[in-house]
Amino acid sequence: MIIGVPKETQSGENRVALVPETAAKLVKAGFEVRMERGAGEKAFFPDADYEKAGAKIAALDEVFASDIVAKVAVPSPAEIARLKSGSVYVSFLNPLAEPALTASLAKQGVTAFSMELIPRTSRAQSMDALSSQANIGGYKAVLTAAVAIGKYLPMLTTAAGTVPPAKVLVIGVGVAGLQAIATARRLGAVVSAYDIRPEVKEQVQSLGAKFVEAKIDVDARADGGYAKEVNEETKRKLQEALAESVAASDIVITTAQVPGKKAPVLVTRAMLERMRPGSVVVDMAAEQGGNVEGSKPGQTVQLNGVSLVGPVNLPSSMPLHASQLYSRNLFSLLGLLVKEGKLNLDFNDDILKGACASHAGQVVNDRVKGLLAS
Ligand code: NAI
Repeated sequence: MIIGVPKETQSGENRVALVPETAAKLVKAGFEVRMERGAGEKAFFPDADYEKAGAKIAALDEVFASDIVAKVAVPSPAEIARLKSGSVYVSFLNPLAEPALTASLAKQGVTAFSMELIPRTSRAQSMDALSSQANIGGYKAVLTAAVAIGKYLPMLTTAAGTVPPAKVLVIGVGVAGLQAIATARRLGAVVSAYDIRPEVKEQVQSLGAKFVEAKIDVDARADGGYAKEVNEETKRKLQEALAESVAASDIVITTAQVPGKKAPVLVTRAMLERMRPGSVVVDMAAEQGGNVEGSKPGQTVQLNGVSLVGPVNLPSSMPLHASQLYSRNLFSLLGLLVKEGKLNLDFNDDILKGACASHAGQVVNDRVKGLLAS
């Protein structure tokens, strides 16, 4: 079984799908591993380390001639065109926002697995790249804010007097939000957090943060632990409840998303206007439309002295660990996809069935099919 890993081509993408540690494990398990020359360079893994691990440094054509091709970022049209019919392809595919891409993979005759479609079950946890990367995003969002703010985060008692701790508010307490809370706490900030799903209150408190309560009577839980979209009236009530907390915070980190939908706007311009000059807002959902009114992906917008930071692809800014964890997720998935040196496309397996986006010339995921039909 040959697995090929090309160098990432998307602008700003520093990660690599396989690191030498995982390449060595695959070689030991009987795989031939083909890495495109320089594939790991931006994540600080030189070709020599892959060669030591038993992988081959190969030309792009040889990489794409593999039985399985693995990448991190969504494939470009040129990459899809290079995939051979009947091969297996794995990466993030952004299937709910870009269903046409899955359709192109189907047309190319590729069996494509989407990292986003891996079910959120206990058995699939080791393959959950959304989580491994969101964790890095949450950590990096807090560091980004800490660098941008003209303040200490911890309380300090110095000869020149005492400095009070900074106040951090985290909105959206999924994987990224939980890591943001933990990171802000480690830096000594006073942290509060808010999510539309009330069941996260205990998790917030167990990290030493305060849960911001909002009085609503809808059940915002959907299958798989995700939030579902809420109506306008509910959104308004939630925003009112949040306004006070936003105004009192030095740093606001927003991570709220609804899969396949535009991110909900939770921090409005009116709320931002109540923040003190020098405050920093990091909108992790900026690329999905933004949780913060006026934030722009890839930019820092100034509003009355408040910085609105719209980071893009935060995991790529920490490519070494992001690649290492992604690579371990991929290794676990390959453990299901390949049995005794042969492809095991067992669609009775809930993980393989759930994660498969295209197979035998067809788009096979129902949600993606629905989006393409609409
Ligand atoms: P996500 O990235 O889809 O959303 C982030 C957070 O934003 C979520 O907590 C969501 O409830 C919140 N949110 C959405 N709309 C909101 C609104 N209008 N106001 C406030 N907050 C809002 O979430 P992520 O990180 O992908 O995780 C979703 C859930 O899945 C979590 O409960 C997580 O614990 C669970 N999960 C389960 C796994 C497993 O069982 N294997 C693995 C990973 C996550």
